[in-house]
Amino acid sequence: MAQLLGRKPAALLGVATGSTPLPVYRALAAQVAAGRADVSRARIAQLDEYVGLPPEHPESYRSVLAREVLEPLGLGLEAFMGPDGTATDVQAACEAYDRALAAAGGVDLQLLGIGTDGHIGFNEPCSSLASRTRIKTLTEQTRIDNARFFDGDISQVPHHVITQGIGTILEARHLVLLATGEGKADAVAATVEGPVAAICPASALQLHPHATIVADEAAASKLK
Ligand code: F6R
Repeated sequence: MAQLLGRKPAALLGVATGSTPLPVYRALAAQVAAGRADVSRARIAQLDEYVGLPPEHPESYRSVLAREVLEPLGLGLEAFMGPDGTATDVQAACEAYDRALAAAGGVDLQLLGIGTDGHIGFNEPCSSLASRTRIKTLTEQTRIDNARFFDGDISQVPHHVITQGIGTILEARHLVLLATGEGKADAVAATVEGPVAAICPASALQLHPHATIVADEAAASKLK
């Protein structure tokens, strides 16, 4: 991200939530504090959002990204774009977000995490590989995985989300997927060495001309 911003100061950075990318955001903020990166003109685009959580809820992804990305980088909400998870017409909000991404020139670098089931964004298994930003229902497994952000109480985890579609994600110029820990090993192996198939949404990265996967030893342990 720092290198990209050196080349293109007003780059549009696509950011994921979840725990995996947090050290990346902290490292980028440290580079900024040390004067080694300039993010002053960077723009930040959200990958996905819960439906029905007010934006000020501490676990809405807008709040999480404000806390973990915008504030540490010294950026304001004017540098930020994301889907409206509280819209009454969710479908229209999704279409508006796809149009806004295109009007902003497209995402230059999209950082992705990966679910234990191979999801990217909140494109759960069997999502169309050509999908656009839309409303999705979370699987029980993902709600269980995310309950840790809601005091361990799964009843607090929303059932629905807006997510950039896989087709939308594939339009970013560079995809960087991060995976850490043994729990991601099956998903990483299916992503890299399995067939391109909707059952593992991250396998769509095989179709992208510029995709990078960064995995620690544990997450890479099931690669052949
Ligand atoms: C959230 C997102 C999800 C997460 C995935 C992994 O914005 O895009 O696909 O990246 O659920 O989450 P962690 O990193 O918490 O394991």
